[in-house]
Amino acid sequence: MKFFIDTANLDQIKDAQELGVLDGVTTNPSLMAKEGITGRNNILKHYVDICNIVDGDVSAEVIATDLQGMIKEGEALADLHEQIVVKVPMIRDGVKALKYFADKGIRTNCTLVFSPGQALLAAKAGATYVSPFIGRLDDISTDGLNLISEIRHIYDNYGYETEILAASIRHTMHIIDCAKLGADVMTGPLSAIEGLLKHPLTDIGLEKFLADYNKGN
Ligand code: G3P
Repeated sequence: MKFFIDTANLDQIKDAQELGVLDGVTTNPSLMAKEGITGRNNILKHYVDICNIVDGDVSAEVIATDLQGMIKEGEALADLHEQIVVKVPMIRDGVKALKYFADKGIRTNCTLVFSPGQALLAAKAGATYVSPFIGRLDDISTDGLNLISEIRHIYDNYGYETEILAASIRHTMHIIDCAKLGADVMTGPLSAIEGLLKHPLTDIGLEKFLADYNKGN
């Protein structure tokens, strides 16, 4: 399973990179705004800064919602750095843009996916990644994990190579459940990744090992 971090915060990206388990970064306009990164030039520079920290794919989102606009923006984003993956929303022109980018060899992440049908369309259009937002489904009393399971089933039926990028991960159990269901990638906050580390028996066991070692010294 690939681990992506879902943030535009450079300190958190550095922390995750230093942990040695980071495979990429996802961002979106809201995450950029949260870090106070606004204006096209600042945002583009920030993408390059992120690429220079992480060894892996960095999703950069188009803002346009029409085909020509998405193509223009997506090509400019892809030209920024070889690690950039163009993030395209699941809308009608987005599907056309996914196909256009696939034909041109530009890698894509289809975002804002909330149904198996949308995921099927993204794969048909040649998306590199599809991003089902599981936390936001949970927020409205719909089982986000079930969507991961349905997409896995559909993709396996036909051998689609589009990678399932479980997004809107909110906590550590989401990561474990997505791993059980066969999501190819998860993207979430650093806190959710760090939660994987924790077990009280590890702490108790280590404390005892060290105490016993120190008895003889
Ligand atoms: O990767 C998608 C993500 O940024 C959305 O997360 O927590 O805002 O639903 P959230």
